[in-house]
Amino acid sequence: MDLLNVNSITMKFGGLTAVNNFKLKVEPGELIGLIGPNGAGKTTVFNMITGLYTPTINKIYFQDKDITGVKPDKIAREGIARTFQNLRLMDNLTVIDNVMIGFHLHLKSNLVSAIFKFPGYAREEESIYGRSMELLEKVGLESYKLAKAGSLPYGQQRKLEIARALATQPKLLLLDEPAAGMNPQETRKLMKFIQKIQDDFNLTIFLIEHDMKVVMGICKRILVMDYGVTIAEGNPKEIQNSPEVIKAYLGVEANYA
Ligand SMILES: Nc1ncnc2c1ncn2[C@@H]1O[C@H](COP(=O)(O)OP(=O)(O)O)[C@@H](O)[C@H]1O
Ligand SMILES: [Mg+2]
Repeated sequence: MDLLNVNSITMKFGGLTAVNNFKLKVEPGELIGLIGPNGAGKTTVFNMITGLYTPTINKIYFQDKDITGVKPDKIAREGIARTFQNLRLMDNLTVIDNVMIGFHLHLKSNLVSAIFKFPGYAREEESIYGRSMELLEKVGLESYKLAKAGSLPYGQQRKLEIARALATQPKLLLLDEPAAGMNPQETRKLMKFIQKIQDDFNLTIFLIEHDMKVVMGICKRILVMDYGVTIAEGNPKEIQNSPEVIKAYLGVEANYA
């Protein structure tokens, strides 16, 4: 069974076709990369998979269930988590609180019992605290637990956002340019971190990057988009040698200078 089956989806915004006929089948345990120049449609693909947008045409299946147009919180509970291209942490809350929010989002009943303070609420809260601490230890952020999220070094904030996504206990994790704004050394470290959490949490990962070199190092399968269209799919070597990819990247190189 495919974990995710994206069946030729198209997204139009007025006269603009942001994503055209995007197809992807993902098996459990894969780490897939999605690359392409700015404006290629990468984030729009994630927005459709996570329910922020409903594809104009066709369907998305997760574990054989049709999730097309299902609300984002419901899709999160089905087991798909994501991070955003721009950080979306609660800057004024502590690191541990940010992770605890992730757990609460997953267990909807907790929000209800939190509001009405049902019996057992304190115990649940304690257990969520414990699990959040465990998660922070696993990702190496435990020493920051009481710091305000906004006060962390940038690279650690990126990690925290991933940790919060992990708190929703996903099967599939979508990372939208997690290395944005990092220098090459930080980027290398982050890619190692992504490989480690994939192992530790038994995850399937779908990763957007715009730097081709970054994904080449960790993804066995890569898709390349340009102007809404998938122009190449294959292993790193196939991608590197694809004339369409070379053309797309040479054409936009000036943007990255
Ligand atoms: N909500 C929206 N309304 C109108 N146009 C959009 C919207 N979201 C994205 N687009 C357009 O779709 C195209 C693809 O955007 P995006 O998916 O963000 O690209 P990428 O993530 O590859 O840089 C761009 O031209 C962008 O301006
Ligand atoms: Mg984007």
